Amino acid sequence: MLNIALPKGRLGDKVYEMFSQIGYDCREIYEDNRKLVFENAENGVRYLLVKPSDVAIYVEHGAADIGVVGKDILLESEPDVYELLNLNIGKCRVAVAGKTGYVEQPDRILRVATKYVNIAKRYYEGINREIEIIKLNGSIELAPILGLSDVIVDIVETGSTLKENDLRVFDEIVPISARFITNKSSFKFKNSVIEEMLERLTALLKKREEAKE
Ligand code: PRP
Repeated sequence: MLNIALPKGRLGDKVYEMFSQIGYDCREIYEDNRKLVFENAENGVRYLLVKPSDVAIYVEHGAADIGVVGKDILLESEPDVYELLNLNIGKCRVAVAGKTGYVEQPDRILRVATKYVNIAKRYYEGINREIEIIKLNGSIELAPILGLSDVIVDIVETGSTLKENDLRVFDEIVPISARFITNKSSFKFKNSVIEEMLERLTALLKKREEAKE
């Protein structure tokens, strides 16, 4: 049985759709919305529904053999897992944003609100800018509006959250998409199953690319 950590929510729906298309469906997932474990013994898969930001933790510790996680989480927490494939879904970017009229003052320490502490630190170290990090867990966009920070480092997908709050992007740090990851020892001991899945996913991605052209 292959244990799959599936991120709950929009990304998870897209991932499950891909997995079911390549032969790892598990119909029950659509039937019960409070259950967290779904199994299809015939296909040899067990889905675990977890918080998107926890997927890599389950996989790193072997509670799940494989999982799908945003590149943002991998860059932020650098889990000890193998990243095997870019699934080209869940596309967005990590960006620096702030109030539309904000003017940077290079002689002052920049106050940065974010949940991506490590990504932000690395980015500002790279451009030699001294910062103070204000760690938040959500609704990051509020920080510059209330004067809690000068800028934010956060995910931008459609850009509508920024727009509706009178904020704009100043810099793009890194493009993000969903990645297929595996636990290191699972990759060794369940290699043929995981390789098979990887092959089917690669074929599906190719088919999707061709359909776009
Ligand atoms: C993320 C991110 C932004 C928003 C960006 O928040 O933190 O707030 O999505 O998307 P957009 O560019 O399409 O508007 P999320 O919904 O994950 O909630 P959070 O505030 O709890 O982080």
